[in-house]
Amino acid sequence: PLGCAKALQLTLAVIKPDAVAHPLIMKALHQKILEHKFIIVKSKDLVWQRQDSERFYAEHEGRFFYQRLVEFMASGPMRAYILAREDAISYWRKLMGPTKVYRARYTSPNTIRAQFGLTDTRNTTHGSDSVESAQREITFFFPEFHAQEWMERLEPSFR
Ligand code: TYD
Ligand code: MG
Repeated sequence: PLGCAKALQLTLAVIKPDAVAHPLIMKALHQKILEHKFIIVKSKDLVWQRQDSERFYAEHEGRFFYQRLVEFMASGPMRAYILAREDAISYWRKLMGPTKVYRARYTSPNTIRAQFGLTDTRNTTHGSDSVESAQREITFFFPEFHAQEWMERLEPSFR
């Protein structure tokens, strides 16, 4: 019954250009999202300019992988999702697995990055890592989306 529903949390999930380039991987990831009972609140396909990449990953400026990362993320189409679920942020990050692909394969072979990641940079997916970053990143990709209004349209027991 609706009365037993748990509070929904929003997160931003992105399928990166390496995965979008392969229709079967896209399909597998989309199915995984549905299988794990996320609500797809919004989704869109888009291509970044280099400055979008630099803005989104500003926190990593100066790291050894920064140039490679911003170039890769602007190299082709991506799909962004706003996902809703109980504990969406940590749940999606758990499904993705560790950032680095060899660590992912070694420690968590059933995760997305272990299964589909090519390198530490071309690692298939992004997921917000906190409530604050989820808010920032959802607004970055979907400036027209109002989380508050969306939540207010739900049955009270989901909020
Ligand atoms: P980070 O926020 O540390 O990882 P996550 O995506 O798991 O939150 O890093 C952001 C992205 O930067 C990461 O997904 C891929 C890239 N990156 C590299 O290319 N090499 C690296 O060694 C690290 C740590 C990240
Ligand atoms: Mg991160």
